Amino acid sequence: MIQSLYRRLALILLVMFIILGAFLFWFYENSNQSLQRETSQKIHLHLAEYLVQEITLFSDGELDHDSVKDAFSNVMRLDPGTELYVIDKQGHVMAYDAPPEKIIRKKIDLAPILTFIESKESLPILGDDPRSDKQKIFSAAPIYDADENLLSYLYIIIKGEVYDDVATALQANKTWWISLGMMGAGMIFLLLTALLLFNKLTQPLVKLSREVANFEQSNFTELPQGAQQFLSENHEKHDEFGKLQHSFYGMAQHIIDQLGYLKKHDDLRSEFLAHVSHDLRTPLAGVRAYLETLQLKGNDLSDESRQDFINKALVTNNRLSTMIDELFELARLEYGEIEVNPETIVLSDLLSDMYATLSNLASKKNINLQVKMQHDDLTVYADVARLDRILQNLVANAIQYTPEKGEVVVEVSVIRSALITAQTTDNGDGAKQQVKISVKDTGQGIAEEDLPYIFEPYFRSESGRRVNQEGKGLGLAITARLLELHGSQLIVNSHENKGTEFSFVLNSN
Ligand SMILES: Nc1ncnc2c1ncn2[C@@H]1O[C@H](COP(=O)(O)OP(=O)(O)OP(=O)(O)O)[C@@H](O)[C@H]1O
Ligand SMILES: [Mg+2]
Repeated sequence: MIQSLYRRLALILLVMFIILGAFLFWFYENSNQSLQRETSQKIHLHLAEYLVQEITLFSDGELDHDSVKDAFSNVMRLDPGTELYVIDKQGHVMAYDAPPEKIIRKKIDLAPILTFIESKESLPILGDDPRSDKQKIFSAAPIYDADENLLSYLYIIIKGEVYDDVATALQANKTWWISLGMMGAGMIFLLLTALLLFNKLTQPLVKLSREVANFEQSNFTELPQGAQQFLSENHEKHDEFGKLQHSFYGMAQHIIDQLGYLKKHDDLRSEFLAHVSHDLRTPLAGVRAYLETLQLKGNDLSDESRQDFINKALVTNNRLSTMIDELFELARLEYGEIEVNPETIVLSDLLSDMYATLSNLASKKNINLQVKMQHDDLTVYADVARLDRILQNLVANAIQYTPEKGEVVVEVSVIRSALITAQTTDNGDGAKQQVKISVKDTGQGIAEEDLPYIFEPYFRSESGRRVNQEGKGLGLAITARLLELHGSQLIVNSHENKGTEFSFVLNSN
């Protein structure tokens, strides 16, 4: 089995050339033979007629065997390429000059003889050869008696035995050899040109298939050399092979990205499981230790120590239940089990609550927490508890991931969307009013390579881990999904060591 496309094409081409060569050879030889026959027959066109006039073959209506024999041997001596026969009106061979065993046909077809005598056109006309089973060119003429009664035909096969060997004769012919040589040389030239062309055409395919195989061998992790640069070029200017190559590189790049993403996702999940089991076990063990101590030594402890143990057990228990709540919340969000109950919310109220809750955290770090509203009476149409959760998560993150003396600003502004939908009330001038809420900080920022993952559950950046060991990487995942439930999207814009801005847009009413 031939694997290479080039070899297969070359083989097909070779077979086609051999067939073509054989056909050309056959055609050449056939037309050559036909031409030779025509010429010879034309030369001998009136030979039979002439001989009938010149020699006496019949006397008193009877074949004169002696004079026939003489005449035939004389003519055949003069022209050794001819064989003479007298044929009767039914086509029987009446006389010839040859050993009887050489005559294998005693009766021949008269039709070609009659056609020849009548028209002498469309040469060559072939007639039966009494000495073989072949058909040959001939000259013929009718023989009449004195009263013009048809007696028989003089039938002359031209170059009978010699003609059998015409192929050999042709091969010995110089012109034939020259023509054959030129034809062969032309065909070899064509064949070589075509092979070269095929080679040129199949080369890019060979290269591409090698690259595909290498890509597969690298377990779909390594782009072929130079692929990046090729991808950055304008693929419109490439030919079909180039476009194919471009598509393959694009596909390979996509596969590498997706595999990387899946791997990272998988790593995050494994990491999370390890964290969760650790984070669940540690507080449980802590609560248990406090309770056991109280059980065993409760009476020996001072009231103060007892109270302290109970408080610590409660705090630990609260942390544990918050974490379990968050895990459940995320699971329910991922399974689409949480519904939102939107209502018109006055943002200033919600933001003051948020401020009251988080200002302590901010002032502990000497962070300047500010709320800036375009108007005091701005409203949004959202689920109040979920929106509170969203704001708390974003502002808490901003405070947590901003170093001391930094700044966190919650900004609310009105934007107008050109979109008008049947469900939304417009504000009179035809445009739907929306509100943009953004939370900006002057903190550590998020590294560019981490940005695609921050909305993934359990993801925590290296710098994030350093400043907040308690985090679970769930806050942003929950926030982003809650906003999706409101038909909105959480947008992030961050520069490392400069700050981060999270923003989203909600309908005003
Ligand atoms: N404002 C921010 N500035 C810099 N990094 C941030 C900011 N907000 C989030 N991040 C990064 O994104 C990660 C994910 O945040 P997310 O709120 O989901 O989890 P977390 O804060 O680590 O834990 P928790 O589930 O307790 O909120 C953080 O670990 C941190 O690395
Ligand atoms: Mg957080």
